[in-house]
Amino acid sequence: MSETLILTRRWGTKDSATLASYKSAGGYGALEKGLALPPSAIVDEVKASNLRGRGGAGFATGLKWTFLPKDVRPRYLTVNADESEPGTFKDRYIIEHEPHMLIEGIALTCWANDIHTAYVYIRGEFARQARILEAALAEAYQAGILGPKVLGKDFALDIHVHRGAGAYICGEESALLESLEGKKGYPRLKPPFPAVVGLYGKPTIINNVETIANIPWIVEHGGAAFAALGVGKSGGTRLFCVSGHVNQPGVYEKPVHYNLKKLIMEDCGGIVGGRKVKAVIPGGSSSPVLTADEIDVSCEFDALKAAGTMAGSGGVIVMDDSTCMVRALSRISKFYAEESCGQCTPCREGTPWMEALVHKIEHGHGQPGDVDKLAQMANNIGGQTICALGDAAAMPVQSFVKKFRAEFERHITERRCPFGDHAWGKTQESRDAVVGGMRA
Ligand SMILES: Cc1cc2nc3c(=O)[nH]c(=O)nc-3n(C[C@H](O)[C@H](O)[C@H](O)COP(=O)(O)O)c2cc1C
Ligand code: SF4
Repeated sequence: MSETLILTRRWGTKDSATLASYKSAGGYGALEKGLALPPSAIVDEVKASNLRGRGGAGFATGLKWTFLPKDVRPRYLTVNADESEPGTFKDRYIIEHEPHMLIEGIALTCWANDIHTAYVYIRGEFARQARILEAALAEAYQAGILGPKVLGKDFALDIHVHRGAGAYICGEESALLESLEGKKGYPRLKPPFPAVVGLYGKPTIINNVETIANIPWIVEHGGAAFAALGVGKSGGTRLFCVSGHVNQPGVYEKPVHYNLKKLIMEDCGGIVGGRKVKAVIPGGSSSPVLTADEIDVSCEFDALKAAGTMAGSGGVIVMDDSTCMVRALSRISKFYAEESCGQCTPCREGTPWMEALVHKIEHGHGQPGDVDKLAQMANNIGGQTICALGDAAAMPVQSFVKKFRAEFERHITERRCPFGDHAWGKTQESRDAVVGGMRA
């Protein structure tokens, strides 16, 4: 049976980003249908769809929408296109190939929630995607899909593109709002949550690009059909971004509960050079690592949680048996130390401290007791900070030390890296990348 593709169906079709191409494939039909329905009917469909946020936390989208206070106006929608989590590279392709699907999703979300202004906060580096999105918006305004009367209905909607400057922390929802307001991207203390006090102090929905791009399909086919593609409390398909030592890295659209091992060994063509899997990070660099014995698991949010990790942003990072786990952690820790915004002491001081200790161990200068010290540092950061970047930095350290402790100890006792010079990347060029089921 062929699998249902929602987001990637037309990736690679010539001119898929244009309005003409989108409309020829039935695009904006869901918006016409949705505008004829009462807004609450759309919220009900999204609730019934079991759509959960694709940005990292996996929160139920329909439920999030119901947190908007009933009587406060204006309200805003901000679409998170910051796509910052290492290992995650799918929102940029949605914007590149299907900008009108995103615009239609935004329009339906705004109609459902009585919102008249939406912002797409897009990562600064995505210059090409920003241009594509702006061109699509211009087409939509020209065609009367946006503006004072959406498709002739007495409903006004404006969508603005706001380009970030490339800070990971600006993907965190409250830092994103600060940045949109023209301030430094410092996360806010929560509560209050953005749904109650958000952009310019007004109720604000913040959703990821992939989350919003699913809305037209849900309105067109019904929430129950979307729920049926998934399992339990998670509906639909999702985009898995597979990188690392697989033969065919790329973006794969699969049911939300697809088996992780199957994705790696079958869809991605297995491991380069026929080597063995050593470890897999299933949901972007902050999610706890799995060992090779643990990857025969469903990628669904609750299943991965039960397996002690996270579905996160769908970034699957595969490491083969030549990988030095201390070095891998060193690279991850460097990222989080560099991206800390510096507001909270545990994160500002702790992340560079962890990075320095991992680096020391990796280079053979570790002391007995350093592995415990590392784990202790991570435990003192997790859950102690304003935003989840502290947890994001602590979780890889905790899981790498727990699952690969012997390797850390070996670096200390042998006073060197047992893996030598790390020939990472030498065979990368020879591999085919796959984007939405196509060879890139
Ligand atoms: C440090 C940090 C970085 C984040 N970066 C992103 C990001 O780049 N893109 C994203 O959609 N969500 C990111 N998130 C999650 C957002 O805060 C938020 O949960 C998400 O955009 C909500 O959308 P969703 O419910 O549709 O997933 C990040 C969270 C944290 C703590
Ligand atoms: S946890 Fe880190 S990134 Fe988040 S607010 Fe505190 S210092 Fe900033």
